[in-house]
Amino acid sequence: MDSRRAIADTLLKTLKGCWPEAEGLPEDLYGFLEVPPDKAMGDYAFPCFRLSKVLRKGPPMIASALAEAYAEPELAKAEAVNGYLNFFLNRGNFAQQTLDAVLAAGENWGASQAGAGKTVCMDYSSINIAKRFHIGHLSTTVIGNSLKRIYDFLGWKTVSINHLGDWGTQFGKMIAAYKHWGDKKTVEDGGVDEMTKLYVRFNQEAANDPALEDEGRAWFKKIEDGDPEALEIFHWFKDVTLKDAMRVYDILGVHFDSYAGESFYADKTAAVVEELDQKGLLKDSDGAKIVDLEEYNMPPCLILKSDGATLYHTRDLAAALYRKNTYHFDLCLYIVAYQQDLHFRQLFKVLELMGYPWAKDQMKHVAFGMVSFEGQALSTRKGVMIYLDDLLTRAQEKALDIIKEKSPNLPDKEDVARQVGVGAVVYATLQNNRIKDIDFWWDRALNFDGETGPYVQYTCARCGSVLRKAPAIDAEPDYAALDNDEAQQLLLLLSRFPDAVQDAADKYEPSMVTRATTELAKAYNKFYYEHRVLDENDLPGTKARLLLTEAVRNVIKTGLYLIGVEAPERM
Ligand code: ARG
Repeated sequence: MDSRRAIADTLLKTLKGCWPEAEGLPEDLYGFLEVPPDKAMGDYAFPCFRLSKVLRKGPPMIASALAEAYAEPELAKAEAVNGYLNFFLNRGNFAQQTLDAVLAAGENWGASQAGAGKTVCMDYSSINIAKRFHIGHLSTTVIGNSLKRIYDFLGWKTVSINHLGDWGTQFGKMIAAYKHWGDKKTVEDGGVDEMTKLYVRFNQEAANDPALEDEGRAWFKKIEDGDPEALEIFHWFKDVTLKDAMRVYDILGVHFDSYAGESFYADKTAAVVEELDQKGLLKDSDGAKIVDLEEYNMPPCLILKSDGATLYHTRDLAAALYRKNTYHFDLCLYIVAYQQDLHFRQLFKVLELMGYPWAKDQMKHVAFGMVSFEGQALSTRKGVMIYLDDLLTRAQEKALDIIKEKSPNLPDKEDVARQVGVGAVVYATLQNNRIKDIDFWWDRALNFDGETGPYVQYTCARCGSVLRKAPAIDAEPDYAALDNDEAQQLLLLLSRFPDAVQDAADKYEPSMVTRATTELAKAYNKFYYEHRVLDENDLPGTKARLLLTEAVRNVIKTGLYLIGVEAPERM
């Protein structure tokens, strides 16, 4: 049972019963219910001042009238204090109803059909071809993956898109470099690193030999014109890059429905330029074409360079229209670092000016902060760069060391180390509000205590181990065994978990699920230390505590899944 829902519904009935004539009463009180900071003030509180205006009465009067009329003692006791109506859940009933509902849902507690019939496009990870997958693309990848899982869980149709950075003159230069100094085998074996080397060499040599630049441009022109040789090399560069990236995606459990990147829109930009022109939005600026956004306090949006080449914005405009026409989305998310804030504000504004009102309320830039590593900001220029496959490998190695020391008898140590190491990295990325910068420290992320991935995984495994040790019990559960504060806190967190998932979707904020899951883990450990779960002298109580343990395990597993972290059976 969702206790908040139930209280909101009965309270509304009470309210309408007290003042049947009143006009302008809210239709739902769910959003009005607060969670008091101190449990002594109740499990939920309803602030009556929000009704003063409609009812023309003082909050204390309203509160006491409601307290008197409230008639669901089965569910909760209501008390009027200083204009608040405080609700104290009936502990035994609350336990039974909550556990019945949570356990019936299995690993789907919090799933809903809230998004049924709606489609969300999500643009995330969106890596660049011929560049190694580095830690700068970690957040977009894991935030996007988590949001996809969350929206799926809420019944939306999700379309995950890897908008590859695979267009631009640099690819012509890379082909020129490859023709001069590269060979197939070296690139096959060396992968993206080898391509980067070629590109660096090109730029060095081109400094003394301007003819090279022309060659590069010519090769890019060939890609644009569909020359078979140029396309073959270009596609091969893409394959090599994606093969590397795929390893990382596999480790992270990330999947895309589409890899339509910038090159996919190369033949769709002319129509956009024409539409802009027809709608009177294109302006000439030193031979280039722009959309003037001065009126909106933004620099102009560049559409065509003076040589007629398209830009990042042009391709994003084409992509937005394509997505709308293809997927008919109700929401389109761009999970991209906050540095591109201006880019997206310009993009959405231009679409709006083109007469697409959905650009205003259906397109969202889901921005996030920067990642630094043990206090060091990362930058390619200074050569401080951390590659994602290295990072994940290190994480697994370090986790393996810890596991060998902590649990020498554990079977499948390697597999658990993979889940723990990768989980630690993902958890650390989704721990705080996405807009906050992240400073990643190994010791912190891999700590088995405190708010970390391994800690939450460990708690989940602990629940599993309690359940495995438990004897089969025939007795009916005695829910009164759960009327202590620690169990009640757990039950409250369980009953509120669905809200956290919905909030996370509404705010594009996976950290709300991370937090709800971590709170659950902390509360379970507190319960575990204060109470003996298995007590052979009290089988009915044991049964109730086991049901609680099972519910907690299921919900932690769900929470971890929703943020993209696996839950090892044993640790
Ligand atoms: N490839 C870009 C980058 O690495 C991100 C692309 C984001 N998506 C988009 N539709 N612009 O910065």
